[in-house]
Amino acid sequence: MKTLDGYDFTAVTFPVHCSQEYLTDLAFLERQENVMMLGKVGTGKTHLATVLGVEACRQGREVRFFRVHDLVALLQEKYRTGTLNRFLGELQKAELLILDEMGFVPFHKDGAELIFHVISEGYEQRSVIVTSNLEFGQWNTVFGDARLTAALVDRLVTTHTC
Ligand SMILES: Nc1ncnc2c1ncn2[C@@H]1O[C@H](COP(=O)(O)OP(=O)(O)O)[C@@H](O)[C@H]1O
Ligand SMILES: [Mg+2]
Repeated sequence: MKTLDGYDFTAVTFPVHCSQEYLTDLAFLERQENVMMLGKVGTGKTHLATVLGVEACRQGREVRFFRVHDLVALLQEKYRTGTLNRFLGELQKAELLILDEMGFVPFHKDGAELIFHVISEGYEQRSVIVTSNLEFGQWNTVFGDARLTAALVDRLVTTHTC
């Protein structure tokens, strides 16, 4: 199990109003804020996202962790078997949804729409952590649709006003 012991934050840059403590104290969860972890492969995104998820579990919070492509495959399977709504209802119970590896493989149109649906449903009601090796400007290549990508980024990134 990965832990924060020995995690090297020196190469991690935080946006204004955010800090290492804000992240590791799970302050973002209290405020239903999202966390975007963007960086090259091997820079510790999955490690850190896992640590935060485990810590949230320890606090008794409901957490779901998926590699994005596994979630898309699962959503498509639930759709085929007529159990999508029930599954979406279960997902909505999570206080923290972690989507790992956004951007490794492009989605098909229906997959992109299902992910958009999951993120929109929880908009401002729970936190999402997304890890990606792509900058937002490249997310079009994953979703294949500029409007859907813009709407998704809008749902994930809201301006911090404190
Ligand atoms: N900043 C870091 N501090 C400690 N270990 C790290 C760090 N970055 C990467 N690692 C280690 O390197 C390996 C790859 O990290 P990982 O989290 O899978 O990277 P990413 O998800 O960004 O591709 C893991 O074993 C992880 O524990
Ligand atoms: Mg990773």
